[in-house]
Amino acid sequence: MNVLGIETSCDECAVAVVADGKTILSNVIATQVERHAPWSGVVPEIASRLHVEWIEEVTARALDEAALDFHKDIDGIAVTNRPGLIGSLLVGLSYAKGLAWSSGKPFVGVDHIRAHLYAPHLEYEIPYPHLGLIVSGGHTILCRVDSLEEISILGTTIDDACGEAFDKVAKFHNMGYPGGVILDKLAEEGNENAYHFPQPRLHKGSHRYDVSYSGLKTAAVNQLEQFHTPGTEPSLANIAASFRKAAVDMLIDRVERAAEDTGIHYVAAGGGVSANRYLRRILGEHSGLKTYFPSMKLCTDNGAMIAALGYYRLIQGQSDSLKLNAAARVSGFRRCYP
Ligand code: KG4
Ligand code: ZN
Repeated sequence: MNVLGIETSCDECAVAVVADGKTILSNVIATQVERHAPWSGVVPEIASRLHVEWIEEVTARALDEAALDFHKDIDGIAVTNRPGLIGSLLVGLSYAKGLAWSSGKPFVGVDHIRAHLYAPHLEYEIPYPHLGLIVSGGHTILCRVDSLEEISILGTTIDDACGEAFDKVAKFHNMGYPGGVILDKLAEEGNENAYHFPQPRLHKGSHRYDVSYSGLKTAAVNQLEQFHTPGTEPSLANIAASFRKAAVDMLIDRVERAAEDTGIHYVAAGGGVSANRYLRRILGEHSGLKTYFPSMKLCTDNGAMIAALGYYRLIQGQSDSLKLNAAARVSGFRRCYP
């Protein structure tokens, strides 16, 4: 079954064709990064308008690269309909509905967060149960994954998302845009011990697997002198390296706790921050864990993960109605505290 996957939840206009939920036939990602760079952040209205302009051509390229004809060869359409920037989501969703209505092909709405969690499955056979680490610009989630459908949230951020903290620290120090990517690159040349940033005290009870980034962000923005190691340069590279270490060590610590408590040592990562070099290095070489990181093109937003996850509903004969709406937020990935 060939599924066309459409992703427009933020600033990537992305369309892919995936066969049988596994084989990527094409994966076209048109990034809007340059168009948002003057504002050092994604401007929602610009994002929506660019999706409107680009979506048709990106779809045509995805079909072209897969060497498939939409009418003859595509069996179903999957589209991100939650969560994300509402205007951006509505472009992809409405476009998918237009395709579905005019062709009579089934279409399904896909959850973007679950798709990030599924992305490493496109490249690896990952045994169940495993731990899932979803780290993106909007979400930071550690979960236990027993099957495609059975996902239990162990921990989340209690304030900022991990990628958001990377972006904000990079923006404050004028490191460039997109912040997370540039900070990570800069950190490679820095001394990670130039600043000893504090780790939040979230050890107990229901917070055992949670993370928090607002304190670290404030420390790396407003309280640098307080955490500076005497004798080291207060350079941007050193700030980047020390911040990256503190931010990622927090994630690694929670994964280790979860692995120890559950006895599960397989870890699948997804989302933009899973492209982080330090995270990939340290978790990838961890002696007690077997980690699965998607390749770079599948870490950040892409249509392949949407097509792949949509396949599982389409193969069961399911299709959403043309009344399906978009949602900026979802409740399923929030933890309930007692
Ligand atoms: O998954 P994604 O493309 O979009 C969302 O669903 O949010 O993730 C984007 C986030 C941004 O915050 C970006 O700064 C971060 O992922 N990111 C990184 C790296 N590459 C992207 N953060 C740290 N290191 C990276 N190499
Ligand atoms: Zn994403």
